[in-house]
Amino acid sequence: MMSRTAIVLFLVSLYLPIQYAAAEKLKVRAGSWMSDGNFFSEINSKLFTHLLYAEAYVNTSPFEVEIFPSDEPEFVTFSKKVKEKNPSVKTLLSIWGEAEYALMMRNPSSISSFIRSAQNISRRHGFDGVDLYWDYPKTKADKEHMESLFQEWRKYIHANDSELILTATVPYSPDWPHHDKHVSFYPIRSMARYLDWVHLVPFHYLFDQRINVSAAHSAFYDPTSYCSTAYGISNWIRGGLMPSKIVMGLPFSGYAWNLPDPKNNNLGVQTGKVQIYRALGMMTYKEIRGIIPLCGGKTRYSDTHKIYHFSCGSTWIGFDDVKTIKIKVSYAKEHKLLGYVAWRVSYDDNGLLSRAGRFS
Ligand SMILES: *[C@@H]1O[C@H](CO)[C@@H](O)[C@H](O)[C@H]1NC(C)=O
Ligand SMILES: *[C@@H]1O[C@H](CO)[C@@H](O)[C@H](O)[C@H]1NC(C)=O
Ligand SMILES: *[C@@H]1O[C@H](CO)[C@@H](O)[C@H](O)[C@H]1NC(C)=O
Repeated sequence: MMSRTAIVLFLVSLYLPIQYAAAEKLKVRAGSWMSDGNFFSEINSKLFTHLLYAEAYVNTSPFEVEIFPSDEPEFVTFSKKVKEKNPSVKTLLSIWGEAEYALMMRNPSSISSFIRSAQNISRRHGFDGVDLYWDYPKTKADKEHMESLFQEWRKYIHANDSELILTATVPYSPDWPHHDKHVSFYPIRSMARYLDWVHLVPFHYLFDQRINVSAAHSAFYDPTSYCSTAYGISNWIRGGLMPSKIVMGLPFSGYAWNLPDPKNNNLGVQTGKVQIYRALGMMTYKEIRGIIPLCGGKTRYSDTHKIYHFSCGSTWIGFDDVKTIKIKVSYAKEHKLLGYVAWRVSYDDNGLLSRAGRFS
């Protein structure tokens, strides 16, 4: 029989790893929210430390941050409502732009107007930070512009609102979409210097190839290509972004393709055009979970890529599930990343994936 001391030691030994794991929790457990016809009253904000509202845009005359009029009613109550459920959750306003940013940067006096309006609109509506989503710098000039925008922005925050969080949302790898040529126009060292952190978007890996191949669009590893989360993260780190500035995206969605031959339904087979559910065949985790039982209930797991897939007649679908989300979160911990961002909160099915992230 075990002595009392042995029993106590045994119980302590059980308890210690739990304590250790709890202390290891990732600092940022964020979710990106986009309405897409969903109501944010459904968000369980207790599952997150940060919530991004996606998205505001850049008006070019004058250069100011604006919200689409149809989003306005929800936008103005977003921060207040999510903080009622979890007073410690922080909210960030994500500001999307493409040509608008390039245009703004050619007109230096517009930069301070933009920065002021970003601070004003976010603070006025209870946000704790701003997130820049510039899709994506395409030239050397864009790179310099982005660099000076972040520098100005940090100066402004330092002088006028030192608590405001400043982040950016970027593709999974700095050389996207030119990974074949390894060309990148991100000012990575300046991003590390001026931003609180950076969110990596967790899919679109096979931008060209995925058109005709049943692809691991959110592969965690891929020994045969540069298209994976692990590759993207190491590439950002090699470029000078510290792990402590990286918030890794978790895909709460999958992709669907048409199979020319329903029996030839593995990962990586030639397919017809991408199936149109939404833009480019994207499907939410919730939609996928709804379809699985109608398609025989079986899914297959790729241990190499860390994704799930299944087919249903002539449709092939690849996606992430609880297990792959947990694998990705463990990787983030092992590599001392700052955290993760659920992409997107509204695609989840009753919080299944959000909980998998939160509690692993
Ligand atoms: C935003 O701007 C308005 C008018 O331009 C000003 O009255 C208000 O105080 C500003 N709010 C913040 C939070 O900066
Ligand atoms: C602080 O805000 C004021 C008022 O908007 C502005 O004039 C000033 O340039 C800002 N400071 C910095 C360093 O950007
Ligand atoms: C994809 O397939 C279509 C026909 O189904 C073909 O016209 C197109 O060239 C293919 N695209 C690629 C990138 O292979």
